[in-house]
Amino acid sequence: MERADLEAADELTVGIVGLGAVGIPLASMLARAPGIGLRLHDLDEGILAALKGGRSPLAHLDDALVAPLAGQRGSTDPAVLADCDAVLVCVPTPLTEAREPDLGAVRAAAVAIAENASEGALVVLESTTWPGTTREVLGGALAGRPDLELAYSPERVDPGRVDPEAPGGDPLGARVPKLVGGTSPGATERATALYERVFETVVPVSSAEVAEAAKLVENVHRAVNIALVGELKIAFDAMGLDIWEVLDAAATKPFGFTRFDPGPGMGGHCLPIDPFYLAWAARRAGAETRFVELSGEINRAMPGYVASKVEAALGRRGIAVAGARVLLIGVAYKRGVGITEESPAFPLAARLRGEGAEVSYCDPLVPLCELGESRDLAAALEDGIDVCVVLVDQDGVELESVAAADVMVVDTRAALRTRLLGDPRYVPA
Ligand SMILES: NC(=O)c1ccc[n+]([C@@H]2O[C@H](COP(=O)([O-])OP(=O)(O)OC[C@H]3O[C@@H](n4cnc5c(N)ncnc54)[C@H](O)[C@@H]3O)[C@@H](O)[C@H]2O)c1
Repeated sequence: MERADLEAADELTVGIVGLGAVGIPLASMLARAPGIGLRLHDLDEGILAALKGGRSPLAHLDDALVAPLAGQRGSTDPAVLADCDAVLVCVPTPLTEAREPDLGAVRAAAVAIAENASEGALVVLESTTWPGTTREVLGGALAGRPDLELAYSPERVDPGRVDPEAPGGDPLGARVPKLVGGTSPGATERATALYERVFETVVPVSSAEVAEAAKLVENVHRAVNIALVGELKIAFDAMGLDIWEVLDAAATKPFGFTRFDPGPGMGGHCLPIDPFYLAWAARRAGAETRFVELSGEINRAMPGYVASKVEAALGRRGIAVAGARVLLIGVAYKRGVGITEESPAFPLAARLRGEGAEVSYCDPLVPLCELGESRDLAAALEDGIDVCVVLVDQDGVELESVAAADVMVVDTRAALRTRLLGDPRYVPA
């Protein structure tokens, strides 16, 4: 199919490989567009069954948002991709144990596409990765299919984000500009035409590598600035200064300052993992990325800093860490989602448990995780808690009841700052 066809065809079939936090909203958006039929492929039968039944497998996406996927064809068998005009790849890109890029899922998806894609289909990689992946890795695995055209388009979904200025909050991200870079001008044109059917703004760039690098710049920018503000938080604490008041003051400057707020450490995929894709690629090219490495170090140390504040809070009341009852409030990696990948709650809990503390948690969006089952906040406070640690202030958690209870409060989000600042029970972290 030519650009004109992807732009104007009355009937278009688009395959999505990988139905997770990225693939599901993208698929939902495409399913809403007129004339687009989908083929959903994931290795996880449970996810496909949930979507078929009209249920969202992810806590931050409502059933109503994924409802249009119920009528689409989905299978764990990649043969479902056979009649697609375009295939969009949204599979995970984690790190290996040695903290190097693990492109196993991208390679596996490429093999599935090589064996099943129809003649001349457009293949677009959406997973975050190092510059050159689309051409070298995807292109390498698809070398036997020179008829396929390849492009990269980074997913910019921000799970749980609601844009106050967008109608309906734009939970699927249709108003977020979409970058597109092909491995050839023709591929860029075709991918642009496809995405223009669902995104308000599509921004073509000169190559797949530019689009891949741009995505990493976005994530590295956040990771480095969060590390910086985390480091400043610790320094100001040592100097007897309140980071939140300092940031409020600095943020009154209307130019040249972008505010980032500190927290308990980084979680999710974008910040703890993606910058190391860049570091790896830079090393391979003989260059250094010291900011990236250092920010990773600082951000990974943050749960340890929070643990030291928990110990100090308990110490104020003469309570030993061994046997202390610690309630973590919010174990998702951020507000508004139930995703716990790389959450700083886990290293924090591991350290406190290692010291003999009894650690439990309350997070209405994470009913179950490796720490056990989420507790009802009121019941936990009634049972007896020595210290509450606010890691994520999820909606639906009645923090006022924490403020009102006779417990120490370690607050990493300034969630109870206005209410408790100056109270001897309150420990900012
Ligand atoms: N989650 C985010 O906020 C976000 C934002 C932007 C970009 N990204 C990037 O998008 C990519 C996907 O992330 P995600 O959060 O959606 O991951 P996810 O783990 O939520 O979902 C990935 C899905 O792919 C499936 N899968 C794995 N290997 C497969 C294969 N070979 N064939 C078919 N399906 C396969 C898994 O079963 C899973 O359902 C990653 O590269 C990530 O860095 C994520």
